[in-house]
Amino acid sequence: MYHQARYERKLIFEKDGETDFSMPFEEDVSDMAPANMLRDRLDIPSLPEREVVKHYTDLSEMNYGVDNGFYPLGSCTMKYNPKYADVVSSLPTVANIHPYQDEDSIQGALQLMYELEKALCEIGGVDAVTLQPAAGAHGEFTGMLLAKAFFAHKGEERVEVVIPDTAHGTNPASAAMAGFNVTEVPSSKTGCVDLEALESAVSEKTAAFMITNPNTLGIFEKDVQRIAEIVHKVGALLYYDGANLNAVMGWTNPGKMDFDIVHFNLHKTFATPHGGGGPGAGPVGVRGRLEPFLPVPRIVFKEGKYRLDHDRPQSIGKVRPFFGNFAVLVRAYAYILRMGGDGLKEASEKAVLNSNYMKEKLKGTYDLPFKDLRKHEFVISAKRLKEQKEVRALDVAKRLLDYGLHAPTIYFPSLVEEALMIEPTETETKETLDLYIDTLKKIAEENPMLVRSAPHNTSARRIDEVYAAKEAILSWRAFRKKEREKEGDPSDEKDRGDCTLCRSIVGDMDSLKKRIGKSVD
Ligand SMILES: Cc1ncc(COP(=O)(O)O)c(C=O)c1O
Repeated sequence: MYHQARYERKLIFEKDGETDFSMPFEEDVSDMAPANMLRDRLDIPSLPEREVVKHYTDLSEMNYGVDNGFYPLGSCTMKYNPKYADVVSSLPTVANIHPYQDEDSIQGALQLMYELEKALCEIGGVDAVTLQPAAGAHGEFTGMLLAKAFFAHKGEERVEVVIPDTAHGTNPASAAMAGFNVTEVPSSKTGCVDLEALESAVSEKTAAFMITNPNTLGIFEKDVQRIAEIVHKVGALLYYDGANLNAVMGWTNPGKMDFDIVHFNLHKTFATPHGGGGPGAGPVGVRGRLEPFLPVPRIVFKEGKYRLDHDRPQSIGKVRPFFGNFAVLVRAYAYILRMGGDGLKEASEKAVLNSNYMKEKLKGTYDLPFKDLRKHEFVISAKRLKEQKEVRALDVAKRLLDYGLHAPTIYFPSLVEEALMIEPTETETKETLDLYIDTLKKIAEENPMLVRSAPHNTSARRIDEVYAAKEAILSWRAFRKKEREKEGDPSDEKDRGDCTLCRSIVGDMDSLKKRIGKSVD
């Protein structure tokens, strides 16, 4: 079983001033940088390379990742991705390519993107795809801009987007960012969209209805065709949040379900781990009538060559510099080719099987709201534990860390009290699933005091989340500043070093603070 490493060593910032025998030559390079960027003093320790390597190796051993453990975060899956995809995306011909190269010298890259677009068209059942958006939420935002451009072109004023209460939080945020008013529709007792509520919510002012299918409870919206009829009847568009496509790939697709716009989370479904704010890709697919509005440039194949077409007068423009996150696109392409159609179908099948296996095993110990068959993820509830033992979903999540296991997503979706949302993914073995199931059962039986005070053996104990969110201390420098403030010395002068550039930035911040009359730290 994995256990997080704990080191009782001085932090790198607490050490200083030793000779570095591994780097004996010191050259004066000060004339190589512009004079106004030169710093007289850096407020970082001067250490031998050996000490720096030790520091970062220690940190890596204190970390938990997809390569050393199960990561069943529902909705924001961190699934294990094959190493061949890493290898392919790090090849020098991929890593060293430059976006300013001319089209003739990047024919291979353009072909790869062109073919990836075509593969996504087939998987999604759509007519055209753009690879530009850098994440799922970015894809949603792009999709909303497409809807806006589409209705502007038709001369229709549609100001509202309708979203179910099971939606991922990014859906309403993306619609609002694109300038739409957001209306929420409730779910029915089955955990699916309430059709009557939907019917009364949509009108000729509605631009789109955004849903993910299966929804965030892991339940397939079986009335999706009726949903499409209701939405299309008022002339609105149907938007498919394809972040959960890994549940249905090869079995059905958004095109068959009559959706007009779809985004794919390449980093959830087609290789590249998700989360941590790292680079992802959220390509957007559309039906033919929305194709003219897609971002520029479009990759076209003409007279035996791949070309970038910028001449698209109805395009919404660019949503990302150059071509999006190219290395993620390469990973997805490699994954799709390696898996083939049957392999992708099997991946979804296995993800659904794993999810239902775990759900069935856990439903006696934890409450299971909404009894339907689940797709790739499921939501159980610690409501009973809370009532009987005052143990909450948060406590269960923290206690899992003591067993060297990553916590599931908790308190989402918000319509389930004390929610624990588990997405096992297709890549885990039965042994891993059983270990997680047994540990969750064991925790439910444990002394509530032990669970409420967990974690006990991690490098950091339970943190004050409100304080951590409101007073984010993300660097050693910020920590020292806080410490000094506690000692009654609020000066942050020592942290600025003698950097001319920093001084000018700090000067600007000081004058900004005066102008707006409040802290902008
Ligand atoms: C259902 C759903 N929609 C949208 C998103 C947003 O995707 P991203 O985190 O890439 O912005 C997620 C995140 O995984 C999701 O689960």
